[in-house]
Amino acid sequence: MDSVDSTNTEAKKLLIQGEEEGIIVTAGRQTAGRGRKDRTWLSPVGGLYFSLIIYPRLEVESAPLLGLLGACAVARCLSELGVEDVSLKWPNDVLVKQRKIAGILSETVFLGSDTLGTVVGIGVNQNCSVSEMPNGLQWPTTSIIDEVGKATSIESLLCSIVNRIDELLQSVEEKMSFSSVLDEWRELSSTIGSKVRVHEDGKTIDGIAKNIDSNGALVVQTEDGFVSVLQGDVSHLRVED
Ligand code: BTN
Repeated sequence: MDSVDSTNTEAKKLLIQGEEEGIIVTAGRQTAGRGRKDRTWLSPVGGLYFSLIIYPRLEVESAPLLGLLGACAVARCLSELGVEDVSLKWPNDVLVKQRKIAGILSETVFLGSDTLGTVVGIGVNQNCSVSEMPNGLQWPTTSIIDEVGKATSIESLLCSIVNRIDELLQSVEEKMSFSSVLDEWRELSSTIGSKVRVHEDGKTIDGIAKNIDSNGALVVQTEDGFVSVLQGDVSHLRVED
């Protein structure tokens, strides 16, 4: 589509109408792009915005695990494009030198107690330079064009991310587990080993991020012991903080 409010909203409508797995909604711009926690995702022309319908494979499958899978796929494809120092910040942020370059919003749609499927929505700052974005961005931000110094093909990046997602989903099916996705995420993570501050349900937790568990929850070592976080927001702190 040239323009849509949100590719995730559109893909969720299609999922509810019975559209099959593999359908991708992509748009040149979004007028109401959505991020995690009801935030706005700025979506000017030049970025990559798409949402993919994924059917459930495993009983325990959930939006958090598919979000991690999407983040791994994006990180690998950005590295292949020549972007250096790509890392993942829990849960689904893709960073370059601690600046955000892409984000993933995964939303599961239920019908009664049945899971219809999950919409994995991916936004990448691709050919829009941060210098052209409005002031007051919520966090340090970068884009592919700022990192590699030239415009790149939005279609090619879309294809390579979708192909990588497909490969990772095949490994989930073969192993009947997300173990290799979790391993890849741990390898790419700049959160694990970092001093972090977590905001969850109005609480603030400080500690060291130690791992992610089999549900994709972040395991944080605090002064009072280990805490698992599934929904929160994380900041990486400097050691002196
Ligand atoms: C985040 O970092 O908070 C997640 C951002 C997800 C943005 C993408 S852009 C395509 C899809 N459509 C949306 O409205 N959001 C996701």
